Amino acid sequence: SKYCSNADANLVINQWQQVSSPDAAAKSKLTGGQAVFKKLFALAPGAVDVFKRVNVDNFDSPEFSAHIMRVMGGLDILINYLNDPETLEQMLDHLAGQHAVREGVTAAAFELMANVLIGGLPKVVEDFNPDAWSNCLTPILNGIAAGL
Ligand code: HEM
Repeated sequence: SKYCSNADANLVINQWQQVSSPDAAAKSKLTGGQAVFKKLFALAPGAVDVFKRVNVDNFDSPEFSAHIMRVMGGLDILINYLNDPETLEQMLDHLAGQHAVREGVTAAAFELMANVLIGGLPKVVEDFNPDAWSNCLTPILNGIAAGL
C-alpha cells in the first residue's frame, strides 16, 4: 500500500504512546500542538490568516486551543489507524475534503508541518526513529493535503 509498513506502523504507534497516552497528561498534547503551530507560523507567517475563524490572533485563547486539540486529536486517531489502511484512507479522504474548502490552505503548508513534526518529535519521543516516522507521517500529511 502507499502507507508505511506494519513494522514502521507498530514502532510509530508505540512511540506516539509516549506523548499521547491517557497518562501522558492531555496537557502535553496541547503544549506540543502549540509548539508545532508556533514553529509553523514562524516559518510561514502567511499561514496565520487561515486560522482567523478560530481566534488565532489570540494564540492562547480557548478557541485556538480547541482548534489545536482537534488537530492533535485527529493526528492521534490517524496514527492509531496506521495498521488499518482502508479505514485510514477514509479518514484521510474526509479530512482532505474538510481542508480543500478552507480558503488559503496550501500544500506547501502541509510540507512545512511535516518538517516541523519530524523536527520536533525527537525532543519528546525517546529513541525516535526518523525513517519510520517519516515513512508513516508523509502519506498521512499528503492524504490530508490531497485536495489542495
Ligand atoms: C481544521 C486536522 C494540518 C488548516 C482541522 C480539523 C482537523 C484538522 C481535525 C477540524 C475539522 C473541522 O471541524 O472542520 C489536521 C491534521 C493536520 C492538519 C491532523 C496535520 C497533522 C493543517 C495544516 C493547515 C490546516 C498544515 C494549513 C496551514 C486547517 C484549517 C482548518 C482546519 C484552516 C479550519 C479551522 C476552522 O475551524 O476555521 N484540521 N490539520 N490544517 N485545518 Fe487542519
